[in-house]
Amino acid sequence: MKFDILPSFLAADIGHLAEELRRAEASGADAIHLDIMDPHFVPNMSFGPSIVDFCRRTCPGFYRNVHLMMSRPDLYLEKFVKAGAQTVQIHVEADCDLHHELSRIRALGAKPAIVLNPETPVEILLPYLDEVDEALVMTVHPGYGGQKFIAECLPKVTWLRERRPDLDIMIDGGGNAETIPLAAKAGANMFVAGSYLFAQADMKAAVDDLRRGIAAAAK
Ligand code: DX5
Ligand code: ZN
Repeated sequence: MKFDILPSFLAADIGHLAEELRRAEASGADAIHLDIMDPHFVPNMSFGPSIVDFCRRTCPGFYRNVHLMMSRPDLYLEKFVKAGAQTVQIHVEADCDLHHELSRIRALGAKPAIVLNPETPVEILLPYLDEVDEALVMTVHPGYGGQKFIAECLPKVTWLRERRPDLDIMIDGGGNAETIPLAAKAGANMFVAGSYLFAQADMKAAVDDLRRGIAAAAK
């Protein structure tokens, strides 16, 4: 199984976005994770399709994983795919026809993924698992970077892994050198880390270190 590390661009220094993106790509990370928020779905706002387009223009070969924390992702997902989103993650808690929107994401040429908030029971994902390329188990309440990892979410990862040995399973929120190996042990193979990675003077060393921790824990 391939293990992916994804720095979250939300934690980048906003005054130096191009340098920060190049730094993330040069670290050997597998993709950039872009957190899109509407203030109805979460108590915050972040950025829109123009930042996805900025990433495509700045580092065209750096994969763009786009997390839509939105009540109505159906109204915007086409704009995000056109701006360069390669995977589009929508929440199971969103207010739209999820089967229809997941198939629309694929028809638009991107990979569809489904996301689960900490308070949502994992069984709710079952009807969608054959339609997605990736399931994302949130390990914080979405809305802000820099929060504490909720380890109680990890049994959901194991539940999914037992049922879908080949599915890409991601965790997002509070990822660092202590918590990411725990998630790997639970069965995750994709790991977002925002504030932890962007705070490193040497992001490449930190990514290498995470890879060692994941390899040891996943055995
Ligand atoms: C939370 C976002 C996360 C967050 C991760 O709303 O979906 O992707 O930015 O940041 P850290 O790793 O700092 O928790
Ligand atoms: Zn995210």
